[in-house]
Amino acid sequence: MTWMLTGGAGYIGAHIVRAFQEIDLPVVVLDDLSAGVRGNVPADVPFVQASVQDRDAVRAAMREHGVTGLLHLAAKKAVGESVERPLLYWDENVGGMVDLLQAAADEGVERVLFSSSAAVYGNPPVELVTEETPTGPLSPYGGTKLVGEQVLRDLAAADPSLRWSALRYFNVAGAGAPALGDRSIANLVPMTFRALSESRNPQLFGDDYDTRDGSCVRDYIHVVDLAAAHAAAAKRLDEGPLGEVYNVGRGEGVTVTEVLSTVRTVTGINFEVDVVPRRAGDPTAYYADPSKIADHLGWTARLDLEAMVRSAWEGWQTQH
Ligand SMILES: NC(=O)c1ccc[n+]([C@@H]2O[C@H](COP(=O)([O-])OP(=O)(O)OC[C@H]3O[C@@H](n4cnc5c(N)ncnc54)[C@H](O)[C@@H]3O)[C@@H](O)[C@H]2O)c1
Repeated sequence: MTWMLTGGAGYIGAHIVRAFQEIDLPVVVLDDLSAGVRGNVPADVPFVQASVQDRDAVRAAMREHGVTGLLHLAAKKAVGESVERPLLYWDENVGGMVDLLQAAADEGVERVLFSSSAAVYGNPPVELVTEETPTGPLSPYGGTKLVGEQVLRDLAAADPSLRWSALRYFNVAGAGAPALGDRSIANLVPMTFRALSESRNPQLFGDDYDTRDGSCVRDYIHVVDLAAAHAAAAKRLDEGPLGEVYNVGRGEGVTVTEVLSTVRTVTGINFEVDVVPRRAGDPTAYYADPSKIADHLGWTARLDLEAMVRSAWEGWQTQH
């Protein structure tokens, strides 16, 4: 029972590899290193440098390592870039997934876990988002995640032996070890660290939302908790079917101002913020209802916002 982790050299994948090792689930990583780092993969984990779009290389790796489960993380993930270069995202995220699933089908792989995103909800009509909340992605990136789920649904309808689940991550932050910190600067926490490193005030996009302090509310989840959810899901998928989609969040709404205040506490830097106009399309407030994954897998998040910011800061200082 070996799981192939595509994108296992990336930020989240590196943590999942370790979570699988902790419960003795054998893994092989397939990553083209377009964004990931070879050093993120432990030396005792087999590593294949290839694109998910290279069906021959994927098939050969699956055969060589006796792969029975596939955890598909490899993707392009920058929402803004996806708006500017939609074809790149449809090609990499959906085209790449079709290539990968074709190779998996050829090799008889019957378990698939997929990295989806809260971006599938777009601007949800409610604050507490369940898996039944209507989807409506606002970007090509979110669209590719929703279509990825649909591809798996269609495939399972055609082949009932396929077991699959998609995990919809909310806002991921933190690091399990300083060297594994997020290297991309796309989210609030690393963007704030970058501003501080450049002696600039972090920007706050709008302070006039209808929330407790006027800033947007989101759900932040520690990458170590997220990784544990994957390990639990993979183990269960080996034993029997699971639900199709799961929210993975803490189930707690936190404002941007509260995150910035935690950054002040952790860094000891008493910075001011520059309030700038709202960004187009930013929903006011939403957070996960994680009760489905808690019911089905017994998984709940354990690490709080301060643990996320503290570990992310240690990672930032190590990498910069
Ligand atoms: N980071 C977040 O906040 C977040 C939130 C929701 C969902 N996700 C999803 O989680 C997954 C992992 O995200 P991450 O933050 O670890 O990103 P990341 O960029 O750190 O990792 C992605 C990995 O995939 C690899 N990759 C990309 N294209 C590839 C290809 N064609 N073939 C093989 N490897 C390829 C990259 O080299 C990288 O190692 C992505 O699917 C992302 O969309 C991330």
